[in-house]
Formats: sequence, C-alpha cells, structure tokens
Amino acid sequence: MDPLSFSGRTVFVAGGTSGINLGIAKAFARSGANVAVASRSAERVASAITALQALGSAATGCAADVRDPAAIAAALEAAHAAFGQIDVLVSGAAGNFPAAALGMSPNGFKAVIDIDLLGTFNVLRGAYQYLRKPGASIINISAPQAVHATAMQAHVCAAKAGVDMLTRVLCLEWGGDGIRINSVIPGPIEGTEGIARLAPTEEIKAAWRKSVPLGRFGTQEDVANLVLFLASPLASYITGAVIPVDGGRTANGAAGLGEALASAVGRRPQP
Ligand code: NAP
Ligand code: COA
Repeated sequence: MDPLSFSGRTVFVAGGTSGINLGIAKAFARSGANVAVASRSAERVASAITALQALGSAATGCAADVRDPAAIAAALEAAHAAFGQIDVLVSGAAGNFPAAALGMSPNGFKAVIDIDLLGTFNVLRGAYQYLRKPGASIINISAPQAVHATAMQAHVCAAKAGVDMLTRVLCLEWGGDGIRINSVIPGPIEGTEGIARLAPTEEIKAAWRKSVPLGRFGTQEDVANLVLFLASPLASYITGAVIPVDGGRTANGAAGLGEALASAVGRRPQP
C-alpha cells in the first residue's frame, strides 16, 4: 500500500484557504483525503472548498478566527461530523507585518501573538477530542524567525518560538495517546503573502535568495511534500521535531535580512 495515500483519511487545515496552507490542503486532496479548512474569510473558505473539490476531495470548511476558541471549536466539530475522526491536523494560520518593536503598539504585538501562538493553542486544544487515538499526526507551521532573531520581527520571532515549544510540550503530553506532533519551518516560499510582506522590493528579494544556500525560493510543493511525509506512516517514529524545509536558510542564520527590511520600511517608529 502507498504510504503517501491518504484515501479515506480526514485532514483539517487551520488557515488553509491561501498560500502555503492551501498548497498543503491541495496536496492532501490529491492524495485522496477528505479535507476541511477554516479561516476568517467566508469567501476564501468557499473558494478553497471549490478548489479542493476540483481535485477530487469531499472538501468542507467554515469561516472561523483562530483567536476565537468557540468559533474554531465549531469548525472542528463540523469537520468531525462530516468526515469522522481527524487523522491529520495542520495549524498554519498566521499574521505578519514588518515593524520595529518601537513601531508597533502593544496591540500590534498582541495581534500576531494571538493569531500565531494562542491561535495554535486554540486549534490544538479544540481538536484533541476529535483526533484519532492512536494514529493522529499534528503539523504546526512555524518559521525561521522561531530560531533566528530577526530585526523588525519581534512579534513573529516570539510567537513562532512559542509555537515550536508548544510542539515539544504536546509531544510529551499527547505521545501516550499515540498522537505525533511536529513543526515545519518553511524557508522563503515564492508567490506567497508572507514574501510579499517581507520582501517588498527586488533588492530585498535578492537578499533573501542570497540567504538560501540552494539559491532559490521554495515552492508550496516543497513544504507540502514534508507535511505529507510527516503525516504518513513513513514518519511513525518522528514526534516533537522542528524540521526546516528551507534550502538551508536556517543553517545560514538571518543573514542580515532584518537590516535589509529595516532599510526598506524604516527603523523609526511608524506614525
Ligand atoms: P497567507 O497566504 O496569508 O496564509 C495565511 C492563512 O491564514 C490564510 O488562509 C488566512 O485566511 C489565514 N488566517 C490569517 N489569520 C487568521 C485568523 N486569525 N484565523 C484564521 N485564519 C487566519 O500566508 P503564507 O505566506 O502562505 O503563510 C502561511 C504559513 O506559512 C504561516 O503560518 C506563515 O507564518 C508560514 N511561513 C510562511 C513563509 C513564506 O515564505 N510565506 C515562510 C515561513 C513560514 P483569512 O485571511 O481568510 O483568515
Ligand atoms: N506596522 C505596525 N503596526 C501594525 C501594522 C504595521 N505594518 N499593521 C497592523 N498593525 C497594528 C495595528 O495598528 C493594530 O494596532 P492598534 O490597534 O494599536 O492600532 C494591530 O496591529 C492590529 O491590527 P488590525 O488590522 O486590527 O488586526 P487584524 O486582526 O485585522 O489583522 C494582521 C491582523 C495585522 C496581522 C493582518 O496583517 C492580517 O490579517 N494578516 C494575515 C495575513 C498575513 O499576515 N499573511 C502572512 C503570513 S506570514
């Protein structure tokens, strides 16, 4: 049997309506899974469902903000009602904007902590009762900022480091239930909202490319390939791991990217 077939499996992708996370949802749809997605915009949810159904998935989804535990719990309950126990849970909702610590209000810092870190807690905590035990696989979408201090990214660095520590703690707490949980760290992925925000000029794009030893931006498929592997029986002894899929960027450090970003958007507090 093909270990990368997810036929008849249930996959829930929080934040799965655009970019990298939608790429992951589509990869599972192509591999035969029943896929449920959730994000804030009802329009984005509807268009993701249409795209996933076109790939053969019996897709469903709900509009829900990961900052609202009741809303995300309802989305998880609906996915469970439609498809049964959740085999694969991907938590990838996130927010980002480049700003110096002095250029963001407490609410600006909090917005990103709330979406990335508290939101991941809400997704995982809310999903626990619906996860297949034993057998479920959770994948949190982290970022290089979790391991490399990066100027203009205080909020994201703090949030994603927290996400990875949540991965490790729940590996301990839920391992006895036969639940595996891992983080993946995508490098710069071409054509995404994240790159549009963090590489707003050609000059900064070139600096990003230079920071990657393999010399290119990654693709959504690069990330999806790792996520499918981690969700599959091929990874049955992998849990509590934080794994880059980044062309070597994490090994290379932040490589002055924060400085490039600071020169592009200004280090001074924004009015
Ligand atoms: P994106 O296209 O903006 O995707 C973010 C997704 O999360 C969207 O579907 C968005 O939909 C949803 N979302 C945002 N806030 C939400 C909230 N409060 N509640 C529920 N859903 C919410 O961004 P991306 O660049 O592909 O990034 C996807 C993930 O990869 C993120 O976790 C990011 O940190 C990580 N990452 C990206 C890169 C990169 O190069 N792009 C590199 C490293 C890590 P709605 O607007 O409808 O809510
Ligand atoms: N610089 C400084 N502060 C900023 C900012 C910027 N570029 N953009 C937003 N903020 C601040 C706002 O001023 C606000 O603080 P305030 O109330 O003190 O004025 C705070 O952040 C929240 O902003 P708001 O627009 O109300 O938040 P939201 O919940 O509607 O949206 C964001 C969250 C800001 C993260 C928004 O960019 C978003 O929805 N992002 C999702 C998509 C994304 O970022 N994709 C890339 C993922 S890597």
